[in-house]
Amino acid sequence: MDAAAVDTRADRENAAFWEMICGSNWETRLGITDSSPASLRKFDDYYRTFYPYLEDWLDPASLAGRDVLEVGLGYGTVGQMIAAAGANYSGLDVARAPVDLMNRRLQTGGYSGCAVQGSVLDAPFPAESFDVVVSIGCLHHTGDVQRAIGEAARMLRPGGRLMMMVYHAYSYQTFARRRAKLVGDWLRDRRGAPYSTGDEALRAVYDANAAGEAAPHTVFLSHKQLTRTAERHALTVSRIGRENFSQRLQLGVIPRNWLLATFGKWIGSDLYAVLEKPGRAKNASRSRAA
Ligand SMILES: C[S@@+](CC[C@H](N)C(=O)[O-])C[C@H]1O[C@@H](n2cnc3c(N)ncnc32)[C@H](O)[C@@H]1O
Repeated sequence: MDAAAVDTRADRENAAFWEMICGSNWETRLGITDSSPASLRKFDDYYRTFYPYLEDWLDPASLAGRDVLEVGLGYGTVGQMIAAAGANYSGLDVARAPVDLMNRRLQTGGYSGCAVQGSVLDAPFPAESFDVVVSIGCLHHTGDVQRAIGEAARMLRPGGRLMMMVYHAYSYQTFARRRAKLVGDWLRDRRGAPYSTGDEALRAVYDANAAGEAAPHTVFLSHKQLTRTAERHALTVSRIGRENFSQRLQLGVIPRNWLLATFGKWIGSDLYAVLEKPGRAKNASRSRAA
């Protein structure tokens, strides 16, 4: 499939910002200088150890023979997990570099499927194309998280599911950095606001380029806000939870896995959810009409 139009201002800003693939900081830390299979494996091992709960949310065993779309590819670790699980993989990213890297991974690994450049705000796939949509750390960057979730819902078949991660509005990060402003966020949330925007300094803590500039668009969602958005698009929340806790707060002595299993589940920085589209899922192994 050809690259789709990347044509809103937010899309153009994102396409430029994320051309520096997210994960580049880790690349430097790990001493990775190429995209050889050995280097990618080194990155993937680090990523999977850093997010030990990811596999439980992704449930790779359930993806075999399914048509799976990943939105927001970054370094491609999750995409490779999906392809290696035996899914019919499709990838979508607004920036060129993550798409090229993902296609290299698919080719080198001998997996079927491909990634294309385009925005999830106007996704280049027909309605009801996929059994599963996976999006880790992307939809909150699009400039329109509501529309992005709506597009995912449109592309899902009845009985399909969206497994997603967005930044959590009430985490140790927002408590530490927004303090009094968090009360305003909470009141707006109670009145039905769809998300909170934080501010430049907070956004830069999560995603910044080499010059320290924050990603052009980032919003933060609470449990309630994500649930309301899901309901607006006729999706049912079948599972939702908080994950992730800073490595810095280990203080050199506390095992990070302990922090993840305790504080991470309560005030973790990331909100994971599985949203289901009503209807009966059909058997695996149909091929997608592209
Ligand atoms: C923070 S990275 C996450 C990447 C990866 N899922 C991971 O876990 O490392 C966000 C990704 O979303 C992509 N992205 C941002 N806006 C997008 C949009 N409107 N449509 C598709 N992809 C988008 C970016 O290009 C980037 O690759």
